[in-house]
Amino acid sequence: MSQNDSIIKLNNVHLTLNSGAGPVHILKGINLDIKKGTTVGIVGPSGSGKSSLMSLMTGMEQATEGDVIVDSLSLVGKDEDILAKHRLGRIGIVLQAFHLIPTMTATENVAVPLELAGTKQAFERAEAELDLVGLGHRMDHYPTQLSGGEQQRVALARALAPEPPILFGDEPTGNLDSNTGRAIIDLIFDLAERRGSTLIIVTHDPALADRCDRVISMADGLIVDDTGDTHSPDLDRSEKTAVH
Ligand SMILES: Nc1ncnc2c1ncn2[C@@H]1O[C@H](COP(=O)(O)OP(=O)(O)O)[C@@H](O)[C@H]1O
Ligand SMILES: [Mg+2]
Repeated sequence: MSQNDSIIKLNNVHLTLNSGAGPVHILKGINLDIKKGTTVGIVGPSGSGKSSLMSLMTGMEQATEGDVIVDSLSLVGKDEDILAKHRLGRIGIVLQAFHLIPTMTATENVAVPLELAGTKQAFERAEAELDLVGLGHRMDHYPTQLSGGEQQRVALARALAPEPPILFGDEPTGNLDSNTGRAIIDLIFDLAERRGSTLIIVTHDPALADRCDRVISMADGLIVDDTGDTHSPDLDRSEKTAVH
């Protein structure tokens, strides 16, 4: 796999949403080019637009202006059916809240979405994935019988089971104590690296951002700093050479 291939590209992207108080201009001209297989941290103060930017890249929200291209598909103007299909195999998402279905066991939480997507041997796949996140002994447990860290492991197994080329995390450790959070982060980085996935992770944690190949800082709907700025690729390369 070439590190020079773009997997996500945003050109002059704006997002305006209508609130009760009128339209809110949330993203104000985002340009971004993310290379396949890299790990990217997105940091910035609360309200700066990190989650909104992620929603555009996952196709949960549509750009008001500009172009969003993810794994060769332009998301702009596509209807929800196409976007949902696009997400299904190409994108895994882990959020702060675990969003597990309480009436299903850990295995069912991972297997049922796979089955709905038409994956063969969904239950076997789910069990293998739960093993990978260290939950081999908890497969038949319901979410309420699991700790927060264990629930997030199930959510991670669910996100990774379809083997998506891109994994998004929006403050995935936000509901966990720091030790549990660190173990989850280790797992996310380890699994993403083993599969060559592109990892894009919104975080408040500077230590976590430090582990990423590239860190993008946002403020007030704009990218204000980018360690992988494509305008200075030589600088970026020399920094990387120095680290390794
Ligand atoms: N559905 C919405 N309608 C109106 N404004 C919104 C909506 N969602 C988010 N915002 C506003 O957009 C800004 C960016 O939000 P968000 O992307 O969630 O920031 P972050 O993830 O960096 O905390 C905030 O000012 C927030 O209040
Ligand atoms: Mg957010």
